[in-house]
Amino acid sequence: MPTYVVMLGAPGAGKGTQAKLISERLGLPHVSSGDIFREHLKNKTELGKLADSFMSKGELVPDDVTIAMIRERLGRSDCSTGAVLDGFPRTPAQASALAEMLGGLGGKVDVVPFIKVEEQELVRRLTGRWTCRANGHIFHETFNPPRQAGVCDHDGSELYQRSDDEAETVVNRIRVYVEQTAPLVAFYRESGVLVEINGAQSIDQVTADLLAVLPPVGE
Ligand code: AP5
Ligand code: MG
Repeated sequence: MPTYVVMLGAPGAGKGTQAKLISERLGLPHVSSGDIFREHLKNKTELGKLADSFMSKGELVPDDVTIAMIRERLGRSDCSTGAVLDGFPRTPAQASALAEMLGGLGGKVDVVPFIKVEEQELVRRLTGRWTCRANGHIFHETFNPPRQAGVCDHDGSELYQRSDDEAETVVNRIRVYVEQTAPLVAFYRESGVLVEINGAQSIDQVTADLLAVLPPVGE
């Protein structure tokens, strides 16, 4: 049976950082809705332009286009053993669509690590984040600095600051998270798949806590 992990947490909680690490450890693809939208934007596709009109304000991209995009991504052959989802689902409608999609693929949401971090810390993390242009590797100028400022340790590409990491947009993203995404915590808790992870620890310690609760792949 395929294995599906859904990373849940506020903007800046560390979903992307941890999803990259655990997807490598589990040998599952990292499926990040935000990264896919940013890739579309880089390639100047219609979807990229549409998504940017929401992302730049810190609002959610409409459910219908987001769901269709993830459905297509999870249907690809590299996801046949499962995926680590990061940033999707983000609304109750997306969570229902995901359950239906995974059912069609012979699977289900197996575990939902919910990475908890205080709001003040989220703002510090996002305003100091630097992201790699080529592959979305994530750094922080203080908490996880690259070896050479402005250059990705992993692929040598340029590091940039996301336009939605500007302080005013960050505040709106957190508000949108509280209103539209936080209800998923109760939803997945009631389904019995939610696991709370203390995100206010070192990156390595958070990874260790995550690996301790993740299911073995392919069983
Ligand atoms: P998305 O790209 O998903 O952004 P987000 O959810 O706001 O989350 P972030 O990527 O900002 O944070 P993260 O939790 O991944 O943290 P990270 O690991 O980078 O979405 C962007 C936009 O796209 C949305 O606003 C929306 O418009 C649209 N969108 C995406 N999905 C959508 C959907 N499903 N529906 C509708 N619209 C959608 O870490 C942050 C920083 O902290 C980094 O600098 C990192 O180095 C540092 N850090 C990480 N862990 C630690 C630690 N333990 N200690 C210290 N520093 C740490
Ligand atoms: Mg992210």
